[in-house]
Parts: sequence; C-alpha cells; structure tokens
Amino acid sequence: MRVPATKPFFSNEDIEFITEKFKEILRGESFLTMHKYGAEFEEKFAQFIGTKYAVGCNSGTSALELICRALKISGKEVVLPSNTFVATANAIINAGGIPVFADCGDDMCLDPDDVVAKITSRTIAVMHVHIGGIVSESIFELQKICHEKNLHLIEDAAQAHGSALNGIKAGTFGIAAGFSFFSTKVMTTGEGGMVTTNDLKLVEKMKSLREFGKVKQGIYINYYTDFGYNWRLPEVASLMGIRQLESIEEFIVRRRQIAKIYDEEFYGNPNIVLVVPQDKENHNYFKYLIITPNHDRKVIHKYLESKGIQPSGYVYELPLHKQPVFPEANNLSLPKTEYVCEKHLALPIFYGMTDEQVRYVASTLKEIL
Ligand SMILES: Cc1ncc(COP(=O)(O)O)c(C=O)c1O
Repeated sequence: MRVPATKPFFSNEDIEFITEKFKEILRGESFLTMHKYGAEFEEKFAQFIGTKYAVGCNSGTSALELICRALKISGKEVVLPSNTFVATANAIINAGGIPVFADCGDDMCLDPDDVVAKITSRTIAVMHVHIGGIVSESIFELQKICHEKNLHLIEDAAQAHGSALNGIKAGTFGIAAGFSFFSTKVMTTGEGGMVTTNDLKLVEKMKSLREFGKVKQGIYINYYTDFGYNWRLPEVASLMGIRQLESIEEFIVRRRQIAKIYDEEFYGNPNIVLVVPQDKENHNYFKYLIITPNHDRKVIHKYLESKGIQPSGYVYELPLHKQPVFPEANNLSLPKTEYVCEKHLALPIFYGMTDEQVRYVASTLKEIL
C-alpha cells in the first residue's frame, strides 16, 4: 500500500466552480490579480478566523514580513522559537529585525519561561508559532508577558487554520497573525498567505506594503511612502481559497477522526509518546506528532519509506539555532528544542486518507519499533 505524506482535496464541484470562474477571468470579464475574488477571500477568511480584517498576499512568509514591517521592528529584537520553519526568522530579518531564539515546551511550542529570559531592552515583539497547528496553553502566558512588558505578540499561524484553544481561534491571540496557503497546508491555494488582525492602521500599512508602498494621494495613483513589494495574490488562488474555506470544517473533522485512530493504535505503547494538544477537540491536526524516545528516527523513516509510506515533513528536524545560516546562534543550548527536533516524527495525515491507510501506517510503525 502507498501512503503519501499529504494530499490536497478539491471536490468535482470545487474544480467546476474554480475553472468556470477562471475562464470568465481569462475571457477578460474580470481582472487577473487581487480583485473581487481577492476581496471576497479576505472577507470570508477574516470571518472564519474571527477578526475584523484580513490582508491577502502571495505567501505565508510575506504575511509575516508584512506584519513585521508594519510594526516597524527594524533594529529591534524579536523572540521566536528555534523550532520553526526558517520563514519565521527570515520574515523578521528581512524586515530589519534581530531574531532571538528561545526554547520550547513538551508541546513543541514556545516556553514562556525561556521567552522571559530572552527579553532585553531591545525586544519589541514575541513571534509565537502554533507549530503543527497546536494552540498551546502557553499562549495565555505569552499574552500576559507581552501585555506586562509592552511587547507585540505576533502569531505565526501558518500551520494553524481553524485550530483553537478554549474556543479562541489561532489568528486572534496577538496583534496580527500570518497564515500560509502553501500546497501542504490544511487549506491551500497552491501558494498564498493572509494576515488576520483587528487593527485598521496595520491593515492600511500592510495593503500599501504589499503593493510597492503605494498610498492614495489625490489624483496620484503612483505615490509611494514606503519601499514596498509586489506581493499580490492572483485571483485564481483566491478562487481556490474561497472554495477551500467552504470545506475546511469538514477537512478538520476528518483529520480528527484519523488522529483518533492513531491515538487508539498507539495507546499504552512504551515506545511512542504522543505530542498531545491541550484541546484535541479544537485542533486542526495539520500534523500528527509523536516522539519515539527509544529509537533512531532515521531507521524508522527509512523503514516507513521502504513500506510505501511517506512520513509527513518534520516540524522541524534541525532547529534554527543549529542551522548554518545562523552561525551566531550555533553555540546556543536549547535542550528541549534539540530533543524534540531530533526525536519526533510526523505521520501522514490528510483529508482523503482512508481508515485502512491510517491502520497500515500505525501497524508498520509498531512493527519497526
Ligand atoms: C511555521 C511556518 N511559518 C511560515 C511559513 C511560510 O509560509 P509560505 O511557505 O507560504 O511562505 C510556513 C510554511 O511553509 C510555516 O510552516
């Protein structure tokens, strides 16, 4: 049996809708980029997350950098987890900020105690990452810390569409959040990103920055107050996003069912430690994460592949503070991060995965362990 790591899902109705609307655009009946479907996608995404506004752009990385640029982090430090995708740090650096890596807790998300230890007089923000889609309880502690120390709390929600904790959705905890619609995500537009926020001033700044730094000035169209980018989202991507949004609840329900089967299969197994989100009922299960404390992960990975199973991407196999691109951080010791990065495994999980495939992955894993 073959089991891919992940697979997007578009129903026949979705395909019909997207292609029909795209044909209209191609016939010149509407504009090709950042037009009416872009506006509709932004409105519907903000509604889904529960913020007043959403700002679409061409990637999750751009979304995070738009937030960082709009918050003027240049020259200041931003505390972030070392256990994250490189884009989290890149967004900070490209906006002129200085990334400061902190350790994580058992749920692989930022450890608030280490965040406090990393705050200096130059800190302007904490960039929290809902890794694997997990909304950690630590977010409440981080909110408190940021409030007390007058810091911005930014969410990297690139993996957390629809995840929540105590009924509060990822994307609403901080001043702004960046989402990704990359092809592997719970909902996708191929490439794409979105910022969610309740702050209208930020929205105006980010909308300007995503279009060359333009602002409306009387009769001038080309009037620039910032050095901006071309980070617009094409209309065909927004069409995909609109349709994916209609199915996202259903996607997540299925992911939870898959996770439940894995949970049952691994129950009581001494060689498997589940990375358990505090709020399983509201977790989007972008990743199904386990720690295999007693085994060499490379061996497991290779065995799964030999059996036709493609493990899902790690989050992440080598933490940022150990990456060659951050030489000044290479000697840093972040013990928990180093442990979970080395020992965790992300099992295949996607909407169209059959129960049979889930049980096959579970039994193959138990076999090698
Ligand atoms: C945690 C995290 N941050 C940022 C990004 C960047 O998103 P994108 O690939 O859409 O630029 C991703 C996704 O790939 C991610 O997983």
